[in-house]
Amino acid sequence: MAKTLLRALAGEAVWPPPVWLMRQAGRYLPEYRATRAQAGGFIELCTTPALAREVTLQPLRRFGFDAAILFSDILLLPWALGQELRYAEGEGPLLQPIRDAAGLRALRPQAVATAIGPVLEVLRGLRVEVGGATLIGFAGAPFTVACYMVQGRGSKEWDQVRRMAWSDPALFTALIDLLTEQTIAYFCAQIEAGAEAVMLFDSWAGVLAPSLFRRHVIVPTARIVAAVRARHPQVPVIGFARQAGLMLAEFVGSTGVQGVGIDTSTDPGFAVREVPGLVAIQGNLDPLALAAGGAAMLRETDAILAAMRGRPFIFNLGHGIMPQTPLEHVAALVARVRAA
Ligand code: CP3
Repeated sequence: MAKTLLRALAGEAVWPPPVWLMRQAGRYLPEYRATRAQAGGFIELCTTPALAREVTLQPLRRFGFDAAILFSDILLLPWALGQELRYAEGEGPLLQPIRDAAGLRALRPQAVATAIGPVLEVLRGLRVEVGGATLIGFAGAPFTVACYMVQGRGSKEWDQVRRMAWSDPALFTALIDLLTEQTIAYFCAQIEAGAEAVMLFDSWAGVLAPSLFRRHVIVPTARIVAAVRARHPQVPVIGFARQAGLMLAEFVGSTGVQGVGIDTSTDPGFAVREVPGLVAIQGNLDPLALAAGGAAMLRETDAILAAMRGRPFIFNLGHGIMPQTPLEHVAALVARVRAA
């Protein structure tokens, strides 16, 4: 019998639905904090296969999720390309920003294979250990990775990025194209190392005007899906264009994804009307509803389940789990989904 998450991604209305949470391996888990301290730094944690494997498995042991997501980060690709990266306590990621053609030329695509080796090694050791859960590989989508590479740090508006996309479209498109090719190679390598499904995180897709959304979100995603499926036709791709809003149906229809993540702001009923019935929807409980817990969380969970019943669906949050989330709320959520 195939794994539940893969059945949902193949278009089956599995019920109760499979469940996992974005950022399920993270600081809300005391065992994660302990392993993180043992590793020293975050990049060290991601590139020490035994430790990265351990944190990938921690949420499965505690909650029995239906998927394990590779423990890594979307910014390991720019790091492997030679861009300076550090994770500053309380500040998030900081990179040496790329603002011109010289910055783009300084990237080292030929260095990626070696630098990324330890991440692939994490997957190789995991395939048997996840048991009945599905092993998900992932990457940042080209646009969201480009956001961090150009801005140099997290932002709400991404003003430098949008400015470059409008004022120097050739340079910005060259960066997106480079990331698209790298992401195709990275996904294929992850699949060859054991990933059974892959997810593309486009966390900042929603800041773009529709014309740029088509050019820098839909076009690269479509290319990645086509190239990965050409080499690995049995491996599903989940696209998550956060805050795609009214672009949701076009995103799904024009990219050919097998599953689509919906964010906290998307009405489940709207998503059901917009997304074709054979494409799995994944989402979308507000991470703050999970942090709050109690009756409100259960009511909202039930409403999402009711909207999704009878169609392929994967229960998840609308964005990553918050570090301050109580463990017992996660256990209560999983129990509720399993009782659907
Ligand atoms: O369980 C999992 O999902 C593990 C793998 C994972 C991480 N990051 C680990 C991580 C995944 C899938 C990501 C994706 C990611 N990383 C995204 C896309 C999803 C989203 O949240 O929008 C983005 C935008 C990033 C970039 C990034 N990495 C940021 C903004 C931060 C800092 C924020 C924070 O929580 O501190 C990171 C660091 C990071 N990536 C942590 C983890 C567990 C925290 C590092 C720590 O231990 O201090």
